[in-house]
Amino acid sequence: MNIIPQDLKEKWMQPYIWDKALAEESLQYCARKIKEDMAVLAYACPSETAPDGHYQVIDNVAWTTGFWPGMIWSAYGATKDSIFLYGGKLQTALFQKRLEDDYVLQHHDIGFLYSLSAVADYTLTGSEEARQIGIRAAYRLMKLYREVPGIIQRGGNMEDLTDKFTGVFIVDCMLNVPLLFWAAEQTGDKKLYDAAYNHMKNSVNTIIQPNGAIIQHGIADVLNGTIVADSSQSQGKGGDDAAWGRGQAWAVYGLPLAYSYTKDPIFLDAAKAVNNYFLNHLPSDDVANWDLYYTEDEVQRDTSAASIAVCGLLEIADLLPTDDEYKTVYRNAALRILDSLNKNYRTQEGQDTMGLLDAGVYQMNSGKGVDQPTIWGDYYYIEALHRIHGGFRRFW
Ligand code: GLY
Repeated sequence: MNIIPQDLKEKWMQPYIWDKALAEESLQYCARKIKEDMAVLAYACPSETAPDGHYQVIDNVAWTTGFWPGMIWSAYGATKDSIFLYGGKLQTALFQKRLEDDYVLQHHDIGFLYSLSAVADYTLTGSEEARQIGIRAAYRLMKLYREVPGIIQRGGNMEDLTDKFTGVFIVDCMLNVPLLFWAAEQTGDKKLYDAAYNHMKNSVNTIIQPNGAIIQHGIADVLNGTIVADSSQSQGKGGDDAAWGRGQAWAVYGLPLAYSYTKDPIFLDAAKAVNNYFLNHLPSDDVANWDLYYTEDEVQRDTSAASIAVCGLLEIADLLPTDDEYKTVYRNAALRILDSLNKNYRTQEGQDTMGLLDAGVYQMNSGKGVDQPTIWGDYYYIEALHRIHGGFRRFW
């Protein structure tokens, strides 16, 4: 498919002066909040979202529990405060146990769980034990790989071709695939690399529309290898004229990550198209609505889409060569969105909340987790702040 980046709206081409001091203050604020929240969550897992601002303690069962150790490790990376080192290690133990017990792991979100726990631990501490957990988790994720046509299935029984998830893959998986690329580098096992590469290439060829808008669901025929995109199934509004905000953001970040491991230019070209579509469909405060179909200011934002996209834009800005016209444009866009998060959506000292960012959305269509902090939005927010603070080491 020929994917063509849209021309960016004029405002993204203008220089932007952002509030660096506020970003630094926000990073310190986030680290303080994480330390406070560790009083409840040091050896526990938070719920997906924070109704009334409070994450509840849950069993290590959800696809989202890795974001909490990711926050703790980010705080450690940014501050070097040893309390976060101890907290991160406690979390690694929880994720080691989940892997040993094979507890609720028959799904593609193993990447979210283990990149931000075991791989983060290894990245910052060099722990061999953590590295081995990350590698074992990658091989667990490989059990979801379909050689024909080369996709990671979102979940379900791989032996049962009548399972409703047979051949189904989703754009969200672009952030699970980095665990395979990472483990391929660690082990030299090309099977891991090939699975990740094939999944990403099939995603680019099928679930990104020519204008750069993503479709969340791809459905592969695992016998003959054909793939169709299904825009009627989506966590967004659905339909070819819409793009689920967070799904678009998963692609904004997932594509440059794939490029960083493979150096295949198809991932950079596709990233430019999804980035430009994303940036051209934002409301006036630059923070995405829950679906990019809606660009009006009165619509519900999803701040998690914004924080994910900031990380992706900063990543691609780092990867692009200096003579690429988008290098500065994407960095400025990231800073502009981050500035808006800092000014308009960050929680405040004295507010009765455990969250870092208000106005996130889990599932708009079912009314679940709407207009509240989300643990993944909070994670990507601190990752973004850490990226611009300096000394950042990527966990993906
Ligand atoms: N990966 C699930 C979501 O973004 O809601």
